[in-house]
Amino acid sequence: MLKKIQVRDLVMGMYIHEVCCSWMDNPFWHNSFLLTNKKDLGTFFDHRIKEVWIDTRKGVDTCNKTKIVLLEEENRQIDSTLAKIADQQPTFVQKVSLSEELVKAQQILSNITKDAVIAFEGTRKGHPVNIEQLAGMVDQLKGSILRNPDAILGLVRQKSATNYDYIHLVGVSSLMMALGRQLDYDNETIKELGMAGFLLDIGKSLLPNQIVHKTGKLTLEEFNLLKTHTQKGWEFLKLSKGISDIALDVCLHHHECIDGTGYPDQLAGDKIGTYARMASICDVYDAISSNRCYNSSWEPAESLRKMTEWKKGKFDDDIFGAFVKTIGIYPSGTLVKLKSGRLAVVVEQTETSLLKPIVKAFFSTSTKVHVFPELIDLSRSSDTIIAKEDPKSWGFDLMKIAYA
Ligand SMILES: [Fe+2]
Ligand SMILES: [Fe+2]
Repeated sequence: MLKKIQVRDLVMGMYIHEVCCSWMDNPFWHNSFLLTNKKDLGTFFDHRIKEVWIDTRKGVDTCNKTKIVLLEEENRQIDSTLAKIADQQPTFVQKVSLSEELVKAQQILSNITKDAVIAFEGTRKGHPVNIEQLAGMVDQLKGSILRNPDAILGLVRQKSATNYDYIHLVGVSSLMMALGRQLDYDNETIKELGMAGFLLDIGKSLLPNQIVHKTGKLTLEEFNLLKTHTQKGWEFLKLSKGISDIALDVCLHHHECIDGTGYPDQLAGDKIGTYARMASICDVYDAISSNRCYNSSWEPAESLRKMTEWKKGKFDDDIFGAFVKTIGIYPSGTLVKLKSGRLAVVVEQTETSLLKPIVKAFFSTSTKVHVFPELIDLSRSSDTIIAKEDPKSWGFDLMKIAYA
């Protein structure tokens, strides 16, 4: 059984199922492990982690009955938060079809990745940001996001280990612009948000590679060094010409938290600028939902649930709601089971309801065979989503199915 307990109630032999903190604050890199040494226990306190999920089937149970939350209870709370957001009408935006935009988006991404690699390597050597080149990349991305955000947002999830850093920047930039569109910002501000998304982690290119890409557990010193990327990036951007105040603020404050526990300035609530509050959500979502070599990703819908769990104290409520409306309750790439018994992958959001996206049905759960793929707009169909499914337990390559 999964139980959420206080870190002070941990004892040796408990099986840690999950550390209750935002992925960005998790010093362990792997979430599940048997607690067998005091050093690991100390790490929880060093990093001010307050709660963990333990699995009582795999390790020692807790005897403290006062502060336990059961998984079902937690899930109910998360579901009711998401249900409240799902009740809201998505913003209607005219857009081109996904199939049409996917062709353009693929081309844009291949151009941009090449340029982003060169730009990132340039920063590593101390070259200032080439603002014209960056503006060119962001303009291309913005065009695609405004035509149909699901194309780029779906494609950037397919990050591989080799191009992760660059595609993370493209992903955050795209999410920032899609969120900016949802919040009804003007074109110029949307572009600035895209630029800011590209630049927010630039300080990491100024840190030793072996720390930024370390696959094992980070020491407290390494963790603290990694946190300096916000300040270092801000100082670097200050020296570059033409960087907007939005990009500077986002770079410095994208790891601040609403409850004042973030870094570098421990700003709380409204003291954190709106754009930095937007960036913290986009940055975390992109990081946890990506395919990475050293930290296996969560599915899009699971990433959203995780963020709903962390939301209190971390993210701005209203902006988080707008973010969910941007990517959907069932974001593109989510595997779902339909009432008709078919499995389908979500490919696009619709304007009618956050619960009725366009899906591609491809597998029959009754006959256990693949069926001819069919695109179904659930906002115009009698079929409905009855459950989310875990693609790992089915073994499907969803991205291939979704965008083939
Ligand atoms: Fe960052
Ligand atoms: Fe990041």
